[in-house]
Amino acid sequence: MSRILTGIQSTGTPHLGNILGAIIPAIELSKKNNESFLFIADLHSLTQIKDAEELMENTYSTAATWLAFGLNPQKTIFYKQSDIPITTELAWILSSYFPYQRLTLAHSFKDKSNDLKNVNAALFTYPMLMAADILLYDANYVPVGKDQIQHLEITRNVASKFNNLHGETLIIPEAITDENTKLIIGTDGQKMSKSKNNIINIFLSDKQLKKQIMSIKTDSLPIESIKNPNTCNVFKLYSLIGNEAQVKQMKENYERGGYGYGEAKSQLFELILETYSKQRNTYVYLMDNRSEIDQILKEGSIRAKKIAEQVIKRVKSKLGI
Ligand code: ADP
Ligand code: TRP
Repeated sequence: MSRILTGIQSTGTPHLGNILGAIIPAIELSKKNNESFLFIADLHSLTQIKDAEELMENTYSTAATWLAFGLNPQKTIFYKQSDIPITTELAWILSSYFPYQRLTLAHSFKDKSNDLKNVNAALFTYPMLMAADILLYDANYVPVGKDQIQHLEITRNVASKFNNLHGETLIIPEAITDENTKLIIGTDGQKMSKSKNNIINIFLSDKQLKKQIMSIKTDSLPIESIKNPNTCNVFKLYSLIGNEAQVKQMKENYERGGYGYGEAKSQLFELILETYSKQRNTYVYLMDNRSEIDQILKEGSIRAKKIAEQVIKRVKSKLGI
């Protein structure tokens, strides 16, 4: 039996990229014969969010999304990172084993390093906290989107450095990415990301969701023209969600001409409503019944802590502390 683990920051309501790229694959894996750890990386969110209300709201919406997409808290250990303070202890220990120079190359920091005055120290050491998240539970596999692969490399590297010095102590994890969903595009055709204002939030009201979908960028070919589905952002998103027959139909419409982008967007909107209607309802229910979320996360943290305590003990026994 393998152990899988993944986390999502609570920096906003999870978007379609998070859902298709991380949440659904992780839940599918957890249904197989795996022991799974899924968590909300609220300490990582602190690098960006300093407002208590906002962080709490995001934590609830992130938890509600996992649960709405079928996370079974009986089978999965589902918790909030900040409920396991041992994580920060391990992060500190790991930081002592990882070269400063290599951290300067991590994307989480490097992408923002042209604006250094706005980079806090936690953003710099971010990958060490992420390594601790993973190594603290002896995880074997970590399902993530493409942007997290480098963080996984750092995690493997720091674990190997520790093991080389002290003997086998930490399990070396592997990233799992799904070719089809490792990079979901946003409304502007770039990687969908909370920080880029290009997201599709499937939990919005019908009206707001439609507005987001209508804002997807396309070229300006007129309705009559034959269109290339493979370069169209609307078609790319539609083909990730639709079934084979639906995708084939839309492709034919593009290639036949007389089919406009407005109509394609409306079809994408209808498909999202239809595909995720159950999840949208569960999400609303949970956001109205937050004590249910609190209870689930509390139980998860008790189970997570038991395992974390064993691993940190093993680590510390090698360190004389
Ligand atoms: P964001 O980039 O929007 O801040 P997070 O960093 O919280 O999202 O990402 C949470 C998880 O979702 C990670 O596993 C990440 O790789 C995945 N993910 C984020 N955006 C995308 C995307 N556009 N396509 C595929 N996976 C994504
Ligand atoms: N850094 C990840 C992201 O932004 C979130 C995360 C934190 C994570 N800790 C993790 C993902 C551990 C996988 C495993 O998406």
